[in-house]
Amino acid sequence: MSSPMRIGIAGLGTVGIGVVKLIRKHARDLERRSGRKVEIVAVSARNRKKVRGIVLSGYEWVKDPLDLVNNPDIDVIVELIGGSEGVARDLVTAALMAGKHVVTANKALLAHHGHELALLADKQKVSLCFEAAVAGGIPAIKALREGFAANDIQAVRGILNGTCNYILTNMRESGRDFRDVLKEAQAKGYAEANPAFDVDGIDAAHKLALLTALAFGIKPDMDSLETTGIRHITASDIAHATELGYRIKLLGLCRREGTRLIQSVEPCLVPEQSALGGVEGVLNAVQVRGDFVGQGWLVGRGAGEGPTASAVVADLIDIARGHRVPVFGIPARQMKVGNFASTDILEGHFYMHVVVRDQPGVLAQIAAILRDHKVSVEAVLQRGRDPGKPVSIVMTTHKVKQADMRRAASKISGLSLVKGKPCLMRIEQD
Ligand SMILES: NC(=O)c1ccc[n+]([C@@H]2O[C@H](COP(=O)([O-])OP(=O)(O)OC[C@H]3O[C@@H](n4cnc5c(N)ncnc54)[C@H](OP(=O)(O)O)[C@@H]3O)[C@@H](O)[C@H]2O)c1
Repeated sequence: MSSPMRIGIAGLGTVGIGVVKLIRKHARDLERRSGRKVEIVAVSARNRKKVRGIVLSGYEWVKDPLDLVNNPDIDVIVELIGGSEGVARDLVTAALMAGKHVVTANKALLAHHGHELALLADKQKVSLCFEAAVAGGIPAIKALREGFAANDIQAVRGILNGTCNYILTNMRESGRDFRDVLKEAQAKGYAEANPAFDVDGIDAAHKLALLTALAFGIKPDMDSLETTGIRHITASDIAHATELGYRIKLLGLCRREGTRLIQSVEPCLVPEQSALGGVEGVLNAVQVRGDFVGQGWLVGRGAGEGPTASAVVADLIDIARGHRVPVFGIPARQMKVGNFASTDILEGHFYMHVVVRDQPGVLAQIAAILRDHKVSVEAVLQRGRDPGKPVSIVMTTHKVKQADMRRAASKISGLSLVKGKPCLMRIEQD
């Protein structure tokens, strides 16, 4: 049997502790599956005195995570601190420069610096693995980089943030508003005290940038990623979507459109009977369309101690087996800057919810604007009458250019009888 693979873990939070537990619990299976023992040599976190629910006295405690790199007994650095800058970036860079393999769950780091780190990993001939960074326990990275590698990938779509999916599901089931459900999600530990990263779509955007890079062999590019979160979705949007036979999902989408690529994170409607429509609660899903394979998809738990540790340790098994693949599926120096277009070039059906003062002629004004922008209406929902008071008009459209639909919505929001901004969402078919 080969010599043990010795690892140093930086970060002992939700994921780090999960990794320690998993390696302990499955030590024998890991050894059989990878042909080597996987041994934790040293660990590091900010506060040594913190109660973490497990005994760590068998491992060397390192105050400065960067010292893990200088330890000649360590072969692999596991970075589970987080953040695109600071200690996580310094640690991963130093580890790669020292010729050590790295496993990380850090999507922010890779979305912003993935290409430069991949160049370094290639140069040093070491692995930089990040399965846990996207969709937690779902092997989405391995699927795109290896399982679907024979295909020309045409599109990837995903429900990539469990917090948002939990909130949207709960809003539908309970009929409550966003704020209310967010509070409950925070109390249950499904949402952070500062929820902005999740509910404003940034976390999903980091993950999507990595999927786009893998799917199309391009550099991760956060700047050309259009990101919209879910704060503006109201209980009545959810109710209207349900009435029309749809679910609202925060979708990450990257797609080839002719010679260009588009990538966006935005709430969309999906048919309730579709594959994505059935992905509820904290679950994540990733759907891939390739030219030979057709549509394939994966679903499972996208976060939390167990699923994330499962993905981190899967990466460790690959390294122990000597299975090294290019970080983003192709040599880093061949990764190009993506030729991105705005989602304005997309065509699709749309959902629009406008709150108007109930007054004669308002529907005619909206209809005129839609006509002028070549938007043809498929269905309209208007509930009751309440002269002079705000009422909802909800419509779905036939296929229309996103640019035209956006311009029409912006004109409609300028009408004096319209209250606030219309809520506009694309309807994504299966
Ligand atoms: N949680 C999930 O479900 C999940 C899912 C997928 C990916 N991820 C990613 O996994 C990574 C870790 O997430 P997490 O949820 O485990 O975070 P966490 O619970 O906040 O844990 C972070 C750990 O990093 C340590 N740390 C922070 N700053 C440090 C510093 N300057 N030096 C040394 N240690 C430092 C903390 O130490 P103390 O404990 O002493 O404060 C803590 O142990 C992040 O990149 C995250 O995006 C998380």
